[in-house]
Amino acid sequence: MIQAVILDLDGVVVSTDEQHYQAWQRLADEEGIPFDRETNHRLRGVSRMASLEIILERATRDYSDDEKAEMAARKNGYYRQMLAAMSPEAILPGVMDLLDAVRACGVALAVASSSRNTPYILERIGLDDYFDAVADGNDITHSKPDPEVFLLAAERLGVAPDNCLVVEDARAGIEAALAGGMKALGVGDAAGDDRADATAPDLSAVTVDDLLAM
Ligand code: BG6
Ligand code: MG
Repeated sequence: MIQAVILDLDGVVVSTDEQHYQAWQRLADEEGIPFDRETNHRLRGVSRMASLEIILERATRDYSDDEKAEMAARKNGYYRQMLAAMSPEAILPGVMDLLDAVRACGVALAVASSSRNTPYILERIGLDDYFDAVADGNDITHSKPDPEVFLLAAERLGVAPDNCLVVEDARAGIEAALAGGMKALGVGDAAGDDRADATAPDLSAVTVDDLLAM
């Protein structure tokens, strides 16, 4: 029985893909490292430093740890400049109607994201007081596909993992949810992931009955 719905943030509640992509592209251009949208897909759900390592696979020289830290901070500065322009209008279609309906059924709601910018994004979109629990990249040592962030969110809600449903747009996130013993609904990029318990193009295509019957 579903007692909690745990949502990934980027790509599920809000779309920050384009901003991440543009910020990484700017950094890669400055460093002369080839980067494209295809590589950007591989960064979905992956932590900032692990994302940088994926980008550096195509670099022609080695970078020191200090250089990597500076590059990740530079990308984050570009990204946060773009987040500053974000408003509640950035919440994806169907999200608020579905979440309000889930809450009305007495089911708990949490966000679990690899992003260390989670508190800032929730503030920008006006949802900083909305969720019953938040677990994010600031709280964890292992990013998705490790289940740590989802298990922490469930613990903060006081709900057992097998009573939790995760909504994810990243394949790494589907893997993490299942590894944590939770059910998984794949949306967006993860709508084609046949490991998920159910899939949908986005949350506007999902009813509260569909969700809680999983
Ligand atoms: C995830 C995104 O939510 O957060 C990834 O899907 C991103 O693309 C990761 O790399 C880390 O984000 P941040 O905001 O901590 O750099
Ligand atoms: Mg995501």
